Amino acid sequence: MSEKKTYYITTPIYYPSDNFHIGHCYTTVTADALARYKKLKGYDVFFLTGSDEHGQKIEGRAKEKGITPMEFINPIIDNAKDLWKALDVSYDKFIRTTDEEHVKCVQKIFERLYKQGDIYKGSYEGWYCTPCESFWTESQLVDGKCPDCGREVKLTKEDAYFFKLSRYQKRFEEYLNSHRDLMQPESRYNEMYNNFLKPGLKDLCVSRASVKWGIPVTFDKSQTVYVWVDALSNYISALGYDSDDDSLYQKFWPADLHLVGKEIFRFHTIIWPIILMALDLPLPKKVYGHGWLTIGGGKISKSKGNYKDPRIFVNDYGVDAVRYFLLSEVPFGSDGNFSELLMVERRNSDLCNVLGNLVNRTISMANKYFGGVVHKNTNPTDLDLEVIAQLESMDNEVDEKVEALNIPNALSLIFNRLERLNKYIDETEPWKLAKDDTNKERLNNVIYTILEGIRLCAIELNAFIPSSANKIYQQLNINNASFENNRFGFIDEYHVTDKPEILFARIDEKELAERLAAEDNEEEKIEHLPEISIDDFAKVELRVGEVIESKKHEKADKLLVSKIDIGGEVRQIVSGIAKIIKPEDFVGKKVIVVTNLKPATIRGVESQGMVLCGENGDDIEIITSTLPKGSKLR
Ligand code: MSP
Repeated sequence: MSEKKTYYITTPIYYPSDNFHIGHCYTTVTADALARYKKLKGYDVFFLTGSDEHGQKIEGRAKEKGITPMEFINPIIDNAKDLWKALDVSYDKFIRTTDEEHVKCVQKIFERLYKQGDIYKGSYEGWYCTPCESFWTESQLVDGKCPDCGREVKLTKEDAYFFKLSRYQKRFEEYLNSHRDLMQPESRYNEMYNNFLKPGLKDLCVSRASVKWGIPVTFDKSQTVYVWVDALSNYISALGYDSDDDSLYQKFWPADLHLVGKEIFRFHTIIWPIILMALDLPLPKKVYGHGWLTIGGGKISKSKGNYKDPRIFVNDYGVDAVRYFLLSEVPFGSDGNFSELLMVERRNSDLCNVLGNLVNRTISMANKYFGGVVHKNTNPTDLDLEVIAQLESMDNEVDEKVEALNIPNALSLIFNRLERLNKYIDETEPWKLAKDDTNKERLNNVIYTILEGIRLCAIELNAFIPSSANKIYQQLNINNASFENNRFGFIDEYHVTDKPEILFARIDEKELAERLAAEDNEEEKIEHLPEISIDDFAKVELRVGEVIESKKHEKADKLLVSKIDIGGEVRQIVSGIAKIIKPEDFVGKKVIVVTNLKPATIRGVESQGMVLCGENGDDIEIITSTLPKGSKLR
């Protein structure tokens, strides 16, 4: 039996999406780097990722396409796996919540919690719209009707099951007192404590009768399990918990690390641990809530037009340029900014100038001066010893940072060493030593010191940029690159390749900036209407109007019918804005109205004017003003 220490690391399971962007890659690439690092350090690692496939949204999207949820999901999952492959993500298992074993496991968990009295039957009360099969709360209704279709709703009680979160509050708080690592970083613990634990936990509704695409509750077929209970259970179902073969569970649970984005931290640090507590299972050792990758400080999304398939970046700049950026740029725990240009700048400055350049010129020098054969430095100078000492302290320092999950700092420690080696070349000036044969031994020692430095750095880099680390090993012509051999002087004699290969060809930043600007312009290219004169424009009367009443159009989901006071005169206006604003929120807004537009009848309702909106792709915004109602715009 092996005595290896185990390490179980998970990413969240992703909602099936065709629109994975660079932000989505952040959790998974980070988890991959940690998993690889631990594997290389000799741990027996299990790295889990997967997909979260149930819920009303998926059901609805499949319905829209006229296919079954599974027909809808399957190709998306293939696409996700392809993305992870392109990013060199080395997961050990990809779980799907539609996997039979997972479904069975969730059903058993639910049943057990019910039998022991932690889940009880209650009722969920709300306003039900039969055609939409949806529940609404009182405040969501519009004029007492369904906010989606405008039809009558009925106050309905639906049977549902609830989980006694409240029962565990005290026990959980006590547990947290001695297990602070569960919620990391510390700032997020404070948030969880102040916002959720301190006010008191409320029982959680854990089943729904109205959601059909979900895991059926075994003892009550009218119900499906709440998606978060279903999803969170993946972390143990993937290990075969409570199945015929639970050997992985026995070996790997509790998880060493659940790595999650900050927006789902609460589910992982309150609901999930309490479910486990109720099941009498050990709690995960650590949940780390990382920040988001943003663009211009904002969300990355297809509708914002700032989304690109990450595979385009992999294709254009290489997988390690993408991995390196994700791993080095975002201060861990905080949000970080992404731009294609920034990624290329980092690639040029660090990967190309510092790493690639060092490897390339050293292999070239080894070939030029020694036909590729360089023997051990047995007579180190003070300068050599200083560099060697720095190289030898690297592993512990990097280890400490990785343990603290601070990958950006771990990487910068490695790059400090690479920079030191570049400086060492400038200090020792091998090209000058080469001019005089009596310096041959010194020249050998200099080149050997750099080659060993490169090897040690490549070992450290392997978890983060594995493809490049492997290319470096190939150029050094070594096959025993491992942490076990990471002491200076391990290689007796180098026989480096005689075909140095450029690791990262430089990308012209200026050209790229121009190309990106052109792409932006392309996207923004405005199709102008024919020119008009100022007199033409003066024919349009625009005034500030205050919305005094608003409701959904009875026959059209997208329309609001509003009464707008344009300064002593009230107009009825129909606008296609129901998707972006609720009628009650529209009331009170001061908007811009085209007041001399010829009245029109829209789906049977007269509209006496038009409300101005701005639009950018899917983003629509109502233009508002702080001027008094009736003010004229020109
Ligand atoms: N299905 C749930 C998780 C259930 S786990 C039991 C979910 N899925 S998700 O697809 O929306 O998100 C998956 C991961 O991607 C999350 O960790 C989320 O934080 C991360 N990210 C999505 N966009 C991101 C950024 N822009 N930046 C960093 N991470 C982001 O939540």
